Amino acid sequence: MSGLITPMALRVAVTLGLPDRLRDNPATAHELAPELDLDPLALDLLLAHLTTLGVVERTASGYRTTYFGALLCVNVGNGLNNLLHHDSAAGRADLAFVDLIHSVRTGGPAYPVRYGQDFWTDLAEHRHLRDAFDRQMTDRMRNWVPQVVRNYDWSRFGTLVDVGGGHGSLLAAILTANPAMRGHLVELGETAAGARAVLGLYGLADRTEVTGSSFFDPLPAGADAYLLFDILHDWDDERAHRILARCAEAAGERGRILVVESLGESTEFDLVMLVHFGGRDRGLHDFERLASAHGLRLESVTQVTDGRSLLEFTR
Ligand SMILES: C[S@@+](CC[C@H](N)C(=O)[O-])C[C@H]1O[C@@H](n2cnc3c(N)ncnc32)[C@H](O)[C@@H]1O
Repeated sequence: MSGLITPMALRVAVTLGLPDRLRDNPATAHELAPELDLDPLALDLLLAHLTTLGVVERTASGYRTTYFGALLCVNVGNGLNNLLHHDSAAGRADLAFVDLIHSVRTGGPAYPVRYGQDFWTDLAEHRHLRDAFDRQMTDRMRNWVPQVVRNYDWSRFGTLVDVGGGHGSLLAAILTANPAMRGHLVELGETAAGARAVLGLYGLADRTEVTGSSFFDPLPAGADAYLLFDILHDWDDERAHRILARCAEAAGERGRILVVESLGESTEFDLVMLVHFGGRDRGLHDFERLASAHGLRLESVTQVTDGRSLLEFTR
């Protein structure tokens, strides 16, 4: 449990593209090293450990990716490569775990200790990180979408605002299943543009609006419901309050606030929120307390998918 070697070996293998390069095309470390501009002896050490792990195997013509190792390839549909690559948003952010002790001492994110600025500023400045993060969010949502659509009665709402809705795959599925409903997605600029394209592809352009703005600014007012899916856990209490305040102000007397979170079900995930964002994974009572400061009362809790519950708040 205490080893850092194997997690780093896997991440370096992915970052160097070894699982893809060796998938159908075996090679020795000496053949590969000049091709990838690597040290041949060091590469051989890495490949030997990847062999121990079963990620590659030795063949007569060199190392070859195994069936198991192919799970780390790009475009195999499991999102793993995008989670582990040093230049992806998540893979890069995970390297900040080296400074976990800073987070534990201060309660703040370790990410800026390593990179000099916070996660969201980095994404705003580096298009490839932004794209990788949006892809990661869409990948993880793919399996959840059918359950989230089925396990909650969305048809009660005429209008839904998806606050920080990513590329909009969930909103698209909810609107497709509820043809009378209209949707509005609020996201940061580049991601909002991506969401517009996705909602268009689903043929929903005429039932949706996308606003490229911050959820710390006023939100579209008067909708029946405001969805915060995996949003509040990215933020400390002060900023979580500011987001909820924007939702409550826009929702007015009648609108509902729908908070979807994991309710502290994964201790590992809780640490990820802390180290990457300085966020907090909260329990039910924490959410009730946060929301009550905005005149919101918890009306129901619905498990919408594995590890995610929907908390419905009303005035
Ligand atoms: C953890 S992701 C969740 C995305 C989406 N709700 C989902 O569950 O797939 C958090 C989202 O919040 C967005 N976000 C971060 N800061 C924001 C801000 N100030 N205003 C609007 N959106 C923001 C990010 O771009 C990202 O898409």
